[in-house]
Amino acid sequence: MLKFKGSIKISGDKSISHRALILSAMSVGKSKITNLLESDDVMSTMKILKHLGIKIFREGNNWIVYGNGSNGFIEPDKPLDCGNSGTTARLMIGAVSSNPINCSFIGDNSLSKRSMSRVTQHLEKIGSEVFLTRKDYLPLMINGSDKLLPSIHKIQKASAQIKSALILAAINIHGKTKIIENIPTRDHTERLLKFLGVKFKIKKLRNRSTQIELDGPYEIKSKNIEVAGDPSSASFFVVGALIVPNSKVTLKNIMLNPSRIAFLKILKQMGGKLKIKKTRKICGEEVGNISAEYSQLKGVIIPSSLSSFLIDEYPILAIAASQARGKTVMKGLSELRHKESDRINSILFNFKKLGINITEKNDNLSIYGKKLKVDKNLIIKSFNDHRIAMSFSILNILFQNKLKIDNQKCIAISYPDFKKHLNYLLKKTNG
Ligand code: S3P
Repeated sequence: MLKFKGSIKISGDKSISHRALILSAMSVGKSKITNLLESDDVMSTMKILKHLGIKIFREGNNWIVYGNGSNGFIEPDKPLDCGNSGTTARLMIGAVSSNPINCSFIGDNSLSKRSMSRVTQHLEKIGSEVFLTRKDYLPLMINGSDKLLPSIHKIQKASAQIKSALILAAINIHGKTKIIENIPTRDHTERLLKFLGVKFKIKKLRNRSTQIELDGPYEIKSKNIEVAGDPSSASFFVVGALIVPNSKVTLKNIMLNPSRIAFLKILKQMGGKLKIKKTRKICGEEVGNISAEYSQLKGVIIPSSLSSFLIDEYPILAIAASQARGKTVMKGLSELRHKESDRINSILFNFKKLGINITEKNDNLSIYGKKLKVDKNLIIKSFNDHRIAMSFSILNILFQNKLKIDNQKCIAISYPDFKKHLNYLLKKTNG
């Protein structure tokens, strides 16, 4: 029998790694980035920045970026390839929009089916010229300009990518830009900007709305950045320890930003034995260690108000729910349809194959926990989606790895060391 046991330092956070590279590139001078996540998505951002004239190289375990300032991108001589990365596409479209250069953006099959107009509609309103495929998709061309208008943007969708794209654009816009988000989303861009000494205002409005006011253009002075461990990557081993008997793990150096660790709150409500210990603050983010041990979980209702804070953790929470007593309901999952795969469909498809009782209605999922027996020849479809492949790799431990999971290469999108860390934490137990 297998169990999870031991302690490990989790790889750098994906969201912060993208932002560390982009904001270092938009700063003036040399930055050293420590613990950058070297995943396929982050490498897509790095390659694009290099094509925009930014000097970036590895020095020992760190990355060095020579920033050209907020108006310093050079027109690229080929299309900017975002690969599979929505964050790269959305954030970089925003970042180049207020530089006077013309760029085209491309991506892989999955990314070419994901909406880009959610960002470009705001940029067009302030003077950007954008040409999209079928009015919404990559490939797209954007004619950037340093004369974009300062304006008020109201973001209706819960998306940190849209917000961050508009913040990056506003850094080189002359005058006051106001960005209002109706539903709060992860705030790494704001925290990193503050750490870099950029002066801007954040105001809580009525309901759950927040207004960010920037008064550009800004000159950002470069600073060294350390990237904290990725809580979304940690979530796989947290759930692994909770559902596999006799397990106990400690995951170290995890970023504990409240907008990213709502999954811990849910797992605690489910009866998970979890301990969180804050240890320090780096580059504006709290960091600490998380311990988890095997627990008998019970089903819960997860309200839609939490969906933007759980957005990347629903697949692994669904795995936890499949092992809990009773029914778990996950509400308000519509944004999951627009990720690397349609994650509602990816979860439904594989759960039904495994014989787990799951239903979907109006983008809500209901899952009934059940002890399962597994047929050796079952093949789980990852849909080329890293979080689906990792979630079922965790469930597979309960089945002594009898399931086959197709296309596991996609795991390198966000967590290239996942298999290495998984094997390190797995121990054999008797009986
Ligand atoms: C991200 C924001 C989220 C998340 C993605 C990374 C970011 O997307 O799903 O993995 O780094 O800003 P949305 O904010 O668009 O939902």
